Amino acid sequence: MKRLVYSLALLALTVTGAQAQTYPTRSATVIVPFAPGGPADITGRIVADIFARHLGQQFVVENVGGAGGTTGSLRAARAAPDGYTLVSGHMGTHAAAPALYPNLGYNPETDFEPVGLIAEQPELLAVRKEIPANKLKEFVAYAKANEGKLNMGHAGVGSVSYVGCLLLNSAIGIKPTMVPFTGTAPVMNAILAGNVDYDCDPILGPLPHVRAGTVKALAIASKKRSPLLPDVPTSFEQGLPEFDCAPFYAVFAPKGTPKDVIDRLAEALNKGLDEPAVQKRLADLGADIAEPNRRGPKALADLVKSEVARLTPILKAASAK
Ligand code: MLT
Repeated sequence: MKRLVYSLALLALTVTGAQAQTYPTRSATVIVPFAPGGPADITGRIVADIFARHLGQQFVVENVGGAGGTTGSLRAARAAPDGYTLVSGHMGTHAAAPALYPNLGYNPETDFEPVGLIAEQPELLAVRKEIPANKLKEFVAYAKANEGKLNMGHAGVGSVSYVGCLLLNSAIGIKPTMVPFTGTAPVMNAILAGNVDYDCDPILGPLPHVRAGTVKALAIASKKRSPLLPDVPTSFEQGLPEFDCAPFYAVFAPKGTPKDVIDRLAEALNKGLDEPAVQKRLADLGADIAEPNRRGPKALADLVKSEVARLTPILKAASAK
């Protein structure tokens, strides 16, 4: 009997090892839990491309929007843990959601195998061009005076656009109408069309519209200005340090995905993030790429844990306001 148990254990180890050696043998899916064209989608596609080039199979992006990214993240949590379904998540889906969804169907800390951090992306307050405000102070005055007709766009409760503007609104003391979309690419279209007044979005979302002069950027939610928009002052400079939001973007696999497979993915991501072309692309999008000592599964597990602990009281307090 002992011998049988030993042989079975050996077989399991051999199969896992063999799987990792050959993984991936077919195309895999990277779930992006938001609409195409926004920061999550653009980041997810960069990562899918890194995996494809370094692991020699297709990594196909599937946009599964809804419920602030929790629909797609739940699908990933429940997928077979074989390395063929991954999710490109972020601070919203994997740190803010537990504070905002009493019945969230997954636990970001225990239902995933972290693969690695990609980058952090500070948010901008992006405002419809016609709003008569060019500085944060002027926006605050306008928002207070027009609270009843003010529309804020976001990518669903728990998304990073929701979280950023929740921090902003609660600091200002306003309750605008919050209009949900499946991502901030459609929010941006609604701002351009004049149907939504503002949103809070990682730089790369509003960037082309700010550069084209069709959307105004009034503040960056960070301690430091972005080299891409050096004229846009920070929220700290403008006296609103509560508007501090630079969400992390990261890759996760379902819990139980073999360690060797996770290691292969993490190694591919690490190599990809060191490529000058990838570094340039992310920098051009306003992302702060993960430094080498913050990469890999362990660092991401620690980050998720600390972000859940940091955000839960802040978001509960801001929601209660
Ligand atoms: C997007 O990529 O659509 C948004 O940035 C998602 C979000 O707001 O969390």
